[in-house]
Amino acid sequence: MSAPGNLTGYADPLNARCGGSVDFMLHDATPGTAEISLVRLLHGDTNPLGPGFVEKEVTGVTLPRTVAVGPQYVPLGSWARARDPDGVLSASLPSATLFAFIKPTMPGAREQIIAGTWDPATKRGFALLLTEGGQVALRLGDEAGTAEIVCPKPVAAHAWHFVAGGWDETGKLLIWQKGLISRWNSLVGPAPGYDLDAAATEQLERPVLPCGGQFTLAAALTGDDRAVAHYNGKIDRHGILNAMAGHDELASLAAGELPAAERLLAYWDTTAGYTDKGIGDVIRDVGPHGLHAHGINRPIRAMTGWNWDGRNDSFRLAPHQYGGIAFHDDALVDCGWQASVSIEIPPDLPSGIYALRVSKDGSEDHVPFFVRPDKARADMAVLMPTFTYLAYANEHLSFEAPIAQAICANTPVVSEADLTWKQQEAFGLSTYDVHSDYAGVCYSSWRRPIQNMRPKYRMPAIGAPWAFPADLSLIWWLDAAGYEVNVVTDHDLAAEGLELIAPYRAVLTGTHPEYYSLGMLDALEDYVAGGGRVGYLGGNGLYWVTEVRDEEPWCIEVRKLDTGSRAWQAAPGEGYLATTGDRSGLWRARGRPPQKLVALGFTTEGMDESQPFERMPDSFEPEAAWLFEGVGHDELIGNFGLGLGGASGLEMDRYDLTLGTPPHTLLVASSFNHSDNYPLVSEDITYAFPGRGGTQDPQVRGDIAFYANAKGGAVFAAGSIAWSQALPCNGGRNNVARIMTNVLDAFRSSDPPFLPRT
Ligand SMILES: [Fe+2]
Repeated sequence: MSAPGNLTGYADPLNARCGGSVDFMLHDATPGTAEISLVRLLHGDTNPLGPGFVEKEVTGVTLPRTVAVGPQYVPLGSWARARDPDGVLSASLPSATLFAFIKPTMPGAREQIIAGTWDPATKRGFALLLTEGGQVALRLGDEAGTAEIVCPKPVAAHAWHFVAGGWDETGKLLIWQKGLISRWNSLVGPAPGYDLDAAATEQLERPVLPCGGQFTLAAALTGDDRAVAHYNGKIDRHGILNAMAGHDELASLAAGELPAAERLLAYWDTTAGYTDKGIGDVIRDVGPHGLHAHGINRPIRAMTGWNWDGRNDSFRLAPHQYGGIAFHDDALVDCGWQASVSIEIPPDLPSGIYALRVSKDGSEDHVPFFVRPDKARADMAVLMPTFTYLAYANEHLSFEAPIAQAICANTPVVSEADLTWKQQEAFGLSTYDVHSDYAGVCYSSWRRPIQNMRPKYRMPAIGAPWAFPADLSLIWWLDAAGYEVNVVTDHDLAAEGLELIAPYRAVLTGTHPEYYSLGMLDALEDYVAGGGRVGYLGGNGLYWVTEVRDEEPWCIEVRKLDTGSRAWQAAPGEGYLATTGDRSGLWRARGRPPQKLVALGFTTEGMDESQPFERMPDSFEPEAAWLFEGVGHDELIGNFGLGLGGASGLEMDRYDLTLGTPPHTLLVASSFNHSDNYPLVSEDITYAFPGRGGTQDPQVRGDIAFYANAKGGAVFAAGSIAWSQALPCNGGRNNVARIMTNVLDAFRSSDPPFLPRT
């Protein structure tokens, strides 16, 4: 589809490296010339209580002053295309049968191509499709004209069917449909007695012998190589016979029998290719010509198929029941834009957060990216939560979720910029959104403009920055306080593991390090166990099992499962990641609660107001004296902040020995007096009863905790998203900053004031 008018773009890779390069893909609906410059981002939040937006011009990097920009196409929608170099399927087919198992989710919405070679531009080829009326049809086209036969009965939404269309050289057409609703596989069961079986034949006066086109799944391809008429729903095994099938043969196929080899032109076995580590985007044709199809924009695999019997909850146990591939007309994993400009990053450029500042005709955008060092060049690293940034990328929750206002207890504050973006939804969805058929979004990518990963962006539902722009408050304070740090990202840690962070004395997290891969979690755990020191400076961290493919790091996958604060919930049997084969959902549900590593774990969220921390008895123990040097006994810690006015707020974590907080952990501070807009998190709710809000449940609080181990490793955990957003207040001189200074000075020391303990 056409991209919106705004001047915007994305950087690839998002996690660039000193000595490497980064490409910028820019777009503006109106062609012209944009001025560009490289800036270092230090602060984003424009709240007047902080330093405001702070950027520094970067010199010493070769960059043109201007670049040409123009409109770029956004290839929205997932689909697949078969490789057919010898033109097996585009040759004239005098007689054939095209068949597929389907579970449509939006029949009747508009015309949707299920499979075939139909080219809407030339009106040639063949296809099975859903008509505007939600009926399956076979369409044929040759140089002399087109023909179509429509099934007399519409399909049912969210129900499995076997459908087939056939033709022969005499001009006979056939359409055939059989309902396959089982106890397990569809939205409704057998009890209502849906009769979805139907068939029709027709005799044309002149046979239509389709030819031309490329074989596609879930969309048709136009002459300019653009996919249109996207299908929403699942497609399971499908194929083409080299002759018109009879009733018995169709009944046999609908029962799941394999077609006879001599009858096959192609047969895409969507269950082929699974391994214990997941499945990729290739849909294998096990027929004689090997016309494998390649998915575009990640058609979703590891999904139940028409024959799922409910016994196994993963493709790892029953791959033959996982032939379903889900397609969505609004999926977007890779814009695939042309690079407008590339930058070679000097080896000695300071590691940090940068942006290409782009301006044209009075509008301006910052396209951010991260630069990590070629090797550790400081004793501390900030681990930027880029997985979280992608999980939230272009979230629509603030606009579309009816619960958003109830969660936030705020009237949304919507700016003109928000409305402009809302009108322009071409850049895809976040893992907080659902597709047009209400299925959850499990993939999110940096290969597209991300409106809320911008320095000045403010989440309209809460009127404050979230994630990337909020994390800049930590970056600004570190710089202002004179700490030299390297910047690394989740993506670097996922790819390199412990080796990335091992050289640093300390690693600091962002405000909301929520999405974690197994490799990231293991690396951070090994880092602490081996003597590393972690400043866990956030809320709701280490929460969702999230993975990327090694070779395609730009795209994360997460599946939201049966517990946790979740925007959607995966369907039964669909909780394992196609990316790696891992069970997704909460790390806590896999035996890895965050308390085991950072002493704290998610306990509440709210967005009306934040509160200060208060010192707890452990803070007065001699072993905690160093931590509170300069802080009075009764002093409220962080009764200020850019995150709703306090250091404990938005999302908070608590100490809990039953969830793995190390028993020798010092619980040094907690927050109180939270409102009932802060309820206890759902994963802690077994029985539902009233009284779980902040005014009633003592588990609704934020905690600050500390522990050290025998190797000199240590964790300081301030379990609140709002913690680092308090740092910039009063010019960076305040008691939150004082505690941070105490922590960082200790963490950087070879002779720290904390005693190794176990
Ligand atoms: Fe979150």
